[in-house]
Amino acid sequence: MRTQVAIIGAGPAGLMLSHLLHLQGIESVVLERRSRDAICATIRAGVLEQGTVDLMCEAGLGDRMRREGFRHEGTVLRVGGLDRRIDFVELTGGRAVMVYAQHEVIKDLVDARLATGGDLRFDVANVSLHDLASLRPTVRYGDQNGAGGERQTVQADFIVGCDGTHGVSRAAIAPQALQTAERRYPYGWLGMLCKAPPSSNELIYALGDDGFALVSTRSREVQRMYLQCDPQDQAGDWSDDRIWSTLRARLATRDGWLPKEGAIFDKTVIGMRSRVTEPMRHGRLFLAGDAAHVVPPTGAKGLNLAMSDARLLSRAFARFYRQGGEDLLCAYSATALRRVWRAQRFSWWMTSLLHRAPGADAFARKLQDAELDYLIGSRAACTALAENYVGLPVGPLWD
Ligand code: APR
Ligand code: PHB
Repeated sequence: MRTQVAIIGAGPAGLMLSHLLHLQGIESVVLERRSRDAICATIRAGVLEQGTVDLMCEAGLGDRMRREGFRHEGTVLRVGGLDRRIDFVELTGGRAVMVYAQHEVIKDLVDARLATGGDLRFDVANVSLHDLASLRPTVRYGDQNGAGGERQTVQADFIVGCDGTHGVSRAAIAPQALQTAERRYPYGWLGMLCKAPPSSNELIYALGDDGFALVSTRSREVQRMYLQCDPQDQAGDWSDDRIWSTLRARLATRDGWLPKEGAIFDKTVIGMRSRVTEPMRHGRLFLAGDAAHVVPPTGAKGLNLAMSDARLLSRAFARFYRQGGEDLLCAYSATALRRVWRAQRFSWWMTSLLHRAPGADAFARKLQDAELDYLIGSRAACTALAENYVGLPVGPLWD
C-alpha cells in the first residue's frame, strides 16, 4: 500500500505528528509494536510546557486536558528544609505548565486519530526500513510476534522514526552518518504512584542531605512521587516503609511538613541519561522524539521535546505538500536540535543541581551548595529556571 508519511511508533511524537498531518490533509500510517491498551497504560512523566498545552489546544485536543489537568503557576524548591517558590506566571509574563499524565495525552491522541479514520496499526512486528535514499522509501512489517502471515509493505514519500530509545529507525542509518553525544548519571529515580490526596498544590523539588525527592500529582486521589536511588536498584529493593521514611527525611521542613501517605500501587526504577543523535534526518527518513534524543526526567522535558519535533515536522510537510518547497524539511534537523540542546542543557543542569552524586568531593559539594544558594537568592536565576521550565518559545504551527 502507499501513503504520504509512514510513521514508526505511536508515542507522543508519532501520534501528534499523524494528527497534525491529518489536520493539514496529509495522509499517514502509524506502525506500533505494542497494543493499544499497552501504550495507553504506560506510566511516564506528566508536565506539559506552555507551548505543548497551546499545541494540544490548537490541534483541538485541549478539552479533557483543561478539565482534568492541573495548571501549575509555580513550583517549590525545598533545600535544607526551606522552601523557595518559583512563580512561573510572574517571572515569565503569564506562562505556566499543565500537570497531565503522558498516557492521558496518548489516549486523547489515539481517540482523535481513530475518530477521524486514522490508520493506526498496533501489534506490528519486525518493522524494517528500506530505500531511505530514494524518493520511494518503504517500511516492511509482520503481524504480532512475527508469527505466520505475509509481511506487509508500506511505500511512502517519507518515513518518520518516532520509535523511541530502542526503536529500529535510528539503527537503520549507517552509524558513520550519525554523531552521538551522551552523559550518564550515577543515580536513578524510584518512581511510585500511591492512593492519597495531594500533599501540595504545586510540585516540590527537594534536596535533602542524602539526595533528591519530588512530589508530583496525577489526580485528587492518586499522587506521583520520586526519589533518588542507586541506578542498579530494583523496585523490589524499596519496601513501602523504606520509600515513606526516605521521602519523609528528604522532604522534611523546619516547620514539620509531612507528605500525605497512602497505599503504594506502582514502583519503577528509572535510569537517567542524556543523549543526542544527530543529524535528525537521513535521506527520506526523519527522526523525532526519543528516537533522536533522551533527557533525564528532572524537569520533564522528554514529552515536550517529542511534541516540538512533531510540530516542526508537520509544518515542514505542510509546506512541502502545498508548495513543493523542501526548505523546512532541510532545516528540520538544525531547527529541532537547537531546541533539543537547550532542553538538554536545562535538564542536565537541573539534574546536577538537585541530586547528590555519590563520591562527590568537597569542592563539588560546595559548588553545588553555592549554586543553590545563588538560585534561591536571585530573581534573575529564578527567572532563568522559570523560562526554561515553562518552555522556550515555539515558532508558528503552520504557515
Ligand atoms: N516498531 C514499531 N514501534 C516501535 C518500535 C518498533 N521497532 N520500537 C518502539 N516502538 C514504539 C514503542 O512501543 C512506543 O510506543 O514507539 C513508541 C515510542 O514512544 P515513546 O518512547 O513514548 O517516544 P516518543 O514518542 O519520542 O516520546 C518521548 O515519551 O518515552 C517517553 O520519556 C519519554 O517523555 C518522553 C516521550
Ligand atoms: C511527573 O509528574 O511524572 C514529573 C513531574 C516533574 C518532573 C518529572 C516528572 O520533573
